[in-house]
Amino acid sequence: MTTFCNFLEQKGIDSELKSVLCSLKDSVKKISEAIKTADTGRAGSTNIYGEEQLALDVLSDRIIQDELKKNEVVGLLASEELPEETKVGDGPYAVCYDPLDGSSLVDVNLAVGSIFGIYKADTFIGRKGDEMLASMFAVYGPRTTIVLTVKNGVVEFSLKDGNFVLSNDEVKITNDKKMFAPGNLRACKTEPNYVKLMEYWMKEQYTLRYSGGMVPDINQILLKGCGIFTYPAYPDAPNGKLRLLFECAPMSLLMEQAGGKSTDSRGKRILEIEIRELSQRTPIFIGATEEVDIAEKFINT
Ligand code: AHG
Ligand code: MN
Ligand code: MN
Repeated sequence: MTTFCNFLEQKGIDSELKSVLCSLKDSVKKISEAIKTADTGRAGSTNIYGEEQLALDVLSDRIIQDELKKNEVVGLLASEELPEETKVGDGPYAVCYDPLDGSSLVDVNLAVGSIFGIYKADTFIGRKGDEMLASMFAVYGPRTTIVLTVKNGVVEFSLKDGNFVLSNDEVKITNDKKMFAPGNLRACKTEPNYVKLMEYWMKEQYTLRYSGGMVPDINQILLKGCGIFTYPAYPDAPNGKLRLLFECAPMSLLMEQAGGKSTDSRGKRILEIEIRELSQRTPIFIGATEEVDIAEKFINT
């Protein structure tokens, strides 16, 4: 049995980075408990995107902040639920996170997640996803799992009896089974090319696997080793919905490390996009390389 922290030791991960990741792992355990028991209602506040916050959005953010503030190697944090990046100490590590992704699925008891990116930086502005040292997400489903990359492949841990233990030592895009998770079908109203892509997937008998949560949707692609998730732009949302720093960049690092691909649907690697503001959004096509290439061809003709 290999635990999360043992795994990092065995891989020879620098002790400071290891302590940041272990703090995040501890916060995931607490959020997992909170989701099971805490109030699933609204917080009565909105975030900078004008989205209504759930009590659980605020609580998850608080749990992560508290864990990171206790860790002296962490100097900076940025959360999807906070308006600005926050200096929390003098340490060199900077952590950006979406504390609860898919919060609209909480009341119907579908899987949700947390997403984390780890940099060494004193501001996130001007960084690119390629500069991340590690990224991970947690899935709060029937099991609680963590999918992690320290830029040396991708692994999965499962929470068992209070400990995260290694449950998959090689998460990889390995096959060409046809599976699609098409986000933002609203774009079909104005984007005939997205309709054509949808028709292609249906005619080719792709399997539809879409939950409405980016974390479980991309987790499925990684663990099944095939498929694609798309969230395109359209005039009402010229950069799509999903946020570069908090959602798209960490997920893209995991996908590339698993042998897949992630672009802005217009040919640019997500990890090469410069972060100019914390709230920056980007369209995203992410999954098996051939699937992303096919989808880009449809969208850009
Ligand atoms: P969040 O709950 O952090 O605001 O993000 C939810 C995201 C993502 O999980 C999902 O893929 C996408 O929103 C779905 O959006 P729409 O259903 O609004 O298109
Ligand atoms: Mn989110
Ligand atoms: Mn969120």
